[in-house]
Amino acid sequence: MKIIMLGAPGAGKGTHAKGIVEKYQIPVISTGDIFRQNIKDGTELGKKAKSYMDAGDLVPDELVCDLVVDRLQKDDCKNGYILDGFPRTIPQAEALTEALKKQGTAIDYALEIFMTDEDIIERMAGRRVCAKCGATFHTENIPPKVEGVCDNCGGTLELRDDDKPETVKKRLDVYHEQTAPLIEYYKKQGIHYEVDGTLGVEGVAKAVSKILG
Ligand code: AP5
Repeated sequence: MKIIMLGAPGAGKGTHAKGIVEKYQIPVISTGDIFRQNIKDGTELGKKAKSYMDAGDLVPDELVCDLVVDRLQKDDCKNGYILDGFPRTIPQAEALTEALKKQGTAIDYALEIFMTDEDIIERMAGRRVCAKCGATFHTENIPPKVEGVCDNCGGTLELRDDDKPETVKKRLDVYHEQTAPLIEYYKKQGIHYEVDGTLGVEGVAKAVSKILG
């Protein structure tokens, strides 16, 4: 099963991708997580990506496409995968379609978690991410057992660098301009499915399960 998670920043792609992983035992490939790990490790890729990410812009396509296409060749992807945060532009989607065509395969589901900009802005203010293991919480919707402390590893929970309100607004503009056209792209392929992102964690998970079977 090959799945793409679509949706605005903060719609819940990462949260619900993890739910799918548990049920279907396929890896999740998050380009945002790959970049954040590279920034943490101080790699060349991380240095290049950081300035774009901090400004709320997209990392250039040429730094992203080969990275993902290479990752999909790994053994753990042979039964499928979930792409979280890729593709994000029409050229990225075309590169993916072409690469998969060469392997005689294609994406099965483009799952869009839909939320309005107003709901996103309100929600992003409450997101907290573990500085150590990257687990995601929310001050109201998914609170940790102890305030400011990760349930999984005891690490400190922080606001992500790009979750400041002014950067969130920029990321939403970039989303509407460059990523939202993918909805039409996948509708034309007959594999677009929409889920209401305001249903709450259980509600969204149920709606996703109903689509994937
Ligand atoms: P990335 O990390 O992919 O960020 P994003 O797409 O902006 O998405 P987020 O991780 O912010 O949100 P999400 O939808 O996963 O929501 P989450 O599950 O955390 O990318 C970051 C940057 O990297 C980009 O801006 C760009 O610069 C660069 N980049 C990455 N990929 C790229 C690419 N392909 N090309 C170019 N550049 C790229 O949930 C949000 C909050 O809501 C959490 O607090 C969560 O607990 C809560 N929540 C989730 N679901 C629910 C629910 N159902 N009900 C209530 N609360 C919920």
